[in-house]
Amino acid sequence: MSGRLPAVARTVVDVRGGVARARAGGRSIGLVPTMGALHEGHLSLIRRARAQCDYVVVSIFVNPTQFSPGEDLEAYPRDEERDLALAGEAGAHLAFLPPAPEIYPPGHATTVTVAGLTERLCGATRGPEHFSGVATVVIKLLNIVAPDVAYFGQKDFQQTVVIRRMVADLNLPVRIEVCPTVREPDGLALSSRNAYLTDGERPRARALHEALRAAEGAIADGERSPVRVLAAGRAAMAERGVEPEYLELVDPDTLAPLDQVGGPALVAVAARVGRARLIDNALIEVPYQSAPNPDLAAGASPAQSDLVSIPSIPPGPGRTNAGAKQPCSA
Ligand code: PAJ
Repeated sequence: MSGRLPAVARTVVDVRGGVARARAGGRSIGLVPTMGALHEGHLSLIRRARAQCDYVVVSIFVNPTQFSPGEDLEAYPRDEERDLALAGEAGAHLAFLPPAPEIYPPGHATTVTVAGLTERLCGATRGPEHFSGVATVVIKLLNIVAPDVAYFGQKDFQQTVVIRRMVADLNLPVRIEVCPTVREPDGLALSSRNAYLTDGERPRARALHEALRAAEGAIADGERSPVRVLAAGRAAMAERGVEPEYLELVDPDTLAPLDQVGGPALVAVAARVGRARLIDNALIEVPYQSAPNPDLAAGASPAQSDLVSIPSIPPGPGRTNAGAKQPCSA
């Protein structure tokens, strides 16, 4: 690995100093919050930030408050030296690596809770405290760095919905940019937790992406019942011997389950494969089916015209859900 290493700040005072100097020089600021163990997914966010902002801050902090008791806080992969080299190569100017007491000093008592949204999907299984931990650390990072733009991945779709809600509700002066999911050639979404997969488990991890493709395929074939769309996804997972923790078809804004397919939809899945808890999702845009129009020429079936705007999930090295609607750039 070659390239410039980013400057390192371990305290709030130091990171604010670095950002203030950049601001004084008239530079715009981008923030990429991470928990480290950087991979191409994280690096795609850093590169996007570098392309759009003059000065890029990457935070690397394994945030204890978003791990429930019994989760993998202790085991979470950590490799500071490698992360710094990768972050620098991707274009980061400053890496913020705070020790836990810098973020949560003794007596810390304030938590941000985004109601409703955090109880669905991952919140239903991990508990809403998970997203309170995420929202709390993210608002702290936004307040510490005060970036113009903060970058998040669509891979953690629910996290982006929660953060966008918080930013809107609390009038935070930052633009949230959501970047597409980066995948392995076989479709597996990159994740720091993929490191937990053994060679034997690795092929089974494909089940999540395959479930999304099966659900998407069912919709492309004209299926409009969420129950049957999800049954197609479950069947794909069963072929790999993987039981979903959840597999749901939801409204991408509210995360509420859909009772019919039409309009924007999110297929979201979580499953355990060995020690690894994995998540993935796909956005699907399906035109609403209108009542048959007598003025339409015979043979112009609405079901066929529906197919054109259903994006596919292309697997491939460094490929993304580029065909999918981007949930946010606001
Ligand atoms: P972490 O899992 O390290 O992810 C940091 C950022 O990278 C998140 O915005 C995540 O969505 C994005 N990311 C992860 N895998 C990706 C992939 N395959 N393609 C594109 N982007 C990907 O998410 C967190 O950390 C934490 O919850 C955090 C926001 C840092 C708060 O602690």
